[in-house]
Amino acid sequence: MKKIALLAFALAFILNAANAQNALAIPDTISGNIINLQIQNGTRQFYNGAATQTMGINGNMLAPTIILYKHQNVTMHVTNNLNDTTTIHWHGMHVAPQNDGGPHITILPGKTWSPSMEVIDHASTHWYHPHLHMKTYDHVQKGIAGFIIVRDSDEAAINLPRTYGIDDFPLAIQTKGIDANNQIVTMHTVLDTALMVNGTLKPVLSAPAQMVRFRVLNGSPERVYNLGFTSNKTFYQIGSDGGLLSAPVALTRLLLAPGERAEILVNLADVVGGSLQLINYGTEIPSARYGAAQPGMGAGQVIPNYALNPLNGANFTILEIKITAQTSNAVTTVPSSLITHNPWIATSAQTTRSFVFTSMGMGQASINGPFVINGSHFDMSMVNFQVPFNNIEIWELRNQTPIAHPFHIHNVQFYILDINGAAPPLNMRGRKDVVLVPGGNSTVRFITKFEDFHNDTLPYMYHCHMISHEDDGMMGQFVVKSPCYLISAPPSNQSALPGANVQFSVAVSDTNGTSYQWQSNVGFGFQDLQNVAQYAGVNTKTLLISAVNSANNNQQFRCKVANQTCEVTSDMAVLQVGVNGIANANQNIQVQVFPNPAKDLLFVQLFSSVRTKYVLHNLMGEVVQEGQLPQGQNSIDISLLKTGIYHVLLWQNEQIMQAKFVKE
Ligand code: C2O
Ligand code: CU
Ligand code: CU
Repeated sequence: MKKIALLAFALAFILNAANAQNALAIPDTISGNIINLQIQNGTRQFYNGAATQTMGINGNMLAPTIILYKHQNVTMHVTNNLNDTTTIHWHGMHVAPQNDGGPHITILPGKTWSPSMEVIDHASTHWYHPHLHMKTYDHVQKGIAGFIIVRDSDEAAINLPRTYGIDDFPLAIQTKGIDANNQIVTMHTVLDTALMVNGTLKPVLSAPAQMVRFRVLNGSPERVYNLGFTSNKTFYQIGSDGGLLSAPVALTRLLLAPGERAEILVNLADVVGGSLQLINYGTEIPSARYGAAQPGMGAGQVIPNYALNPLNGANFTILEIKITAQTSNAVTTVPSSLITHNPWIATSAQTTRSFVFTSMGMGQASINGPFVINGSHFDMSMVNFQVPFNNIEIWELRNQTPIAHPFHIHNVQFYILDINGAAPPLNMRGRKDVVLVPGGNSTVRFITKFEDFHNDTLPYMYHCHMISHEDDGMMGQFVVKSPCYLISAPPSNQSALPGANVQFSVAVSDTNGTSYQWQSNVGFGFQDLQNVAQYAGVNTKTLLISAVNSANNNQQFRCKVANQTCEVTSDMAVLQVGVNGIANANQNIQVQVFPNPAKDLLFVQLFSSVRTKYVLHNLMGEVVQEGQLPQGQNSIDISLLKTGIYHVLLWQNEQIMQAKFVKE
């Protein structure tokens, strides 16, 4: 192993150095309602001597850039011409699990997979790549990866460069290990010494003297880049994984982890000297990230031969940019704002899940993994958990290993809540589907909502996007459960006077084997109620609350209902106690009282002569007197009341009547 790695390093380094600059390849585009993709073997002449065996889509290596429009329908016909099974995953796209192309959606050799979907993503830069379990590294490294550009009307309304290949360029930054025979090595432990952009070694791009947009993808298997330009030139990040930020963020450095995308604007109009370099400032990458001088937390945590790779901890040019004449209709300014974001707030989350990253390796060797999430390796046959449809969730990622891991989730985009308790920097406040979780017990929390798609059996993946870690099992899967329509009528709001008994009921469509658990917002959030004190029937369809008092005012109740096939929590209902509650319930009828003010007897104008219950409250809603008026009697003795303002409430024939009076 060691010998191969050393040879690979030596050869790639020498040949790289010998190579002249090459024009940056810009992938062709493909668009429309039908997209035909042919996965195939190929070759590329990267170096003198043997050609390199590669894999690509509709070509020898890499893949065409798929351009999609929000709300269009698209059918992809993906044909596998390899001698190996593979899959194609649309990384970042919000699609149904059967269209997602994860490890379960295999395409056998000679077969075509044809997912069909409506594009519902925001304008964004995504990418597509194979995802066969334990083969992802192999297939991506051999060359299968392409961009997906989604366009929408919000993005179109902003003055941004968007002419593909003219002022808007995709940049897929990748490193590969190349052996002495010029072949791409797919062993995870090889040194990734060959750096390429869009499959071009030593790339040079001619770009016009104006505002230029780069859609940068870190498509490398493990390496983190710290991007910047010559002379610390300021650039502006306008987009993250899931699309535009709320406003451009001025930067001189941008840390980009595997799987992440960033859209940036660079003003080439003011560059002196006619050329600019996109540089990896590797000397500045903090420790405990693959790509830093020190990949672990401490100097003893070493990856075999890591220090022999000249890219590690080094500053190097990624792309040379030669500046050419300005085009007509050039964009020359940076917009002041982009799109509106309304991230979910933490208190709206129904569920918090925790994901702990650990290493199976011991001591100093823990940096080499294999890494696991919540103690378990990826198991194709085991769904790790179920997410209720439309659930808003906080995912708390805790990295107990000595190296940073870029965590990726399929299906949804998320908003980062905090990184080690601190709000994320401005350029990380947009939609994301990858987040780099620093090593050494760091915690990242994000919030997301699992909307639009559900399927009880087909899962979505979450995993580390260091592809060697992913292939080694640092991955899990979840299903978004189909919604459950068990509740046919939720409990309704109730209003009552102090001292009254109240009930909340839930109606279900199927009582067979159904269980109930009433909950209320007592304490912190909703808690399960017990049959104690005021509550009875907490495990039946009707909750009974006895002798409500002012402390129950505005209390919320809901019922968790479950049977063999589903579990669902009802909408909540509110209990209002006191006169305001009665008024809000709109059940009140004003009744005439006299005299007003009154001293000893208060006469009420009743509609019938049935027995009438009455309650007198003070303005605090406290019951000060209650009783029954015998049939035919219409006066209440108030001689013992203190002076003040009171409400009287009367019940007759299920109706509630009320009035206000002054006691002298
Ligand atoms: Cu880019 Cu699950 O992958
Ligand atoms: Cu993905
Ligand atoms: Cu990892």
